[in-house]
Amino acid sequence: MTRSRPTTAWGVRMAFMGRPGFGRGRPGPRHSNRIPLPPEGEPGFLVFESMTPADVNEVAEIEEASFPTPYTPQIFRDELREGWPACWWVVRHDDGRGGRGPAPIVAYIGYYLQRDRAHIAKIATHPGWRRRRLGEWLLLNTLLVAREQGAAYVSLEVRESNTAAQRLYFKWGFVQLRRFRGYYEDTGEDGLILVFTGLADRRTASRLRQELAGVEIVPPAG
Ligand SMILES: CC(C)(COP(=O)(O)OP(=O)(O)OC[C@H]1O[C@@H](n2cnc3c(N)ncnc32)[C@H](O)[C@@H]1OP(=O)(O)O)[C@@H](O)C(=O)NCCC(=O)NCCS
Repeated sequence: MTRSRPTTAWGVRMAFMGRPGFGRGRPGPRHSNRIPLPPEGEPGFLVFESMTPADVNEVAEIEEASFPTPYTPQIFRDELREGWPACWWVVRHDDGRGGRGPAPIVAYIGYYLQRDRAHIAKIATHPGWRRRRLGEWLLLNTLLVAREQGAAYVSLEVRESNTAAQRLYFKWGFVQLRRFRGYYEDTGEDGLILVFTGLADRRTASRLRQELAGVEIVPPAG
């Protein structure tokens, strides 16, 4: 998504860095939700919660499998250390059988908040969980969480070749705002800037809540 840390096309991080009091370990607001998974009556569920340093290696494995120029574990650690206004979340799959240790991470997302804007830097689902509606659940859930945090609109960058992600964003109401020619240094391809607006509108929020409730995630067998 972003070509490399720490800048984005709109310089979101740059706008914060160097400001007195920027980040430095201040935690963002806590937020957590759980949703039960099919088949109905089975104990499995997904948990959406803050990413912690203990999650970094697992997240970096999904990252490695998902992006041509992945963030290293150290970049994730730095992101978490810098803290708010960077918001990093993971989704865990808890099979409800009470196994040892934290449930495995199946998706993650990170964004920066700047006044009324949230800029998504990363979103990825575990390769074994793709095309199961987890990506759209994570995106819609994040729009609502960002709204609670004061975001009125959400922006992101996507590679021109990444049609899977583009379809996900367009399906849920993002529109293309700009194209940056040759934005990605690794492949030289263009970057598209997409935005989702109207998040402050109560009708948008209630539509998103409804859509979110209707997303049926189908976990992989086994
Ligand atoms: C993009 C990504 C997050 C989608 O996650 P996912 O869990 O597979 O997506 P979902 O199952 O929720 O799919 C939701 C919608 O996204 C679109 N989509 C997702 N994967 C797609 C694919 N391979 N081909 C075409 N459309 C796709 C579709 O519109 C789909 O809705 P539909 O099934 O009704 O057509 C996932 O493919 C991923 O992690 N990719 C690697 C990292 C990445 O590219 N991140 C985005 C950077 S901008």
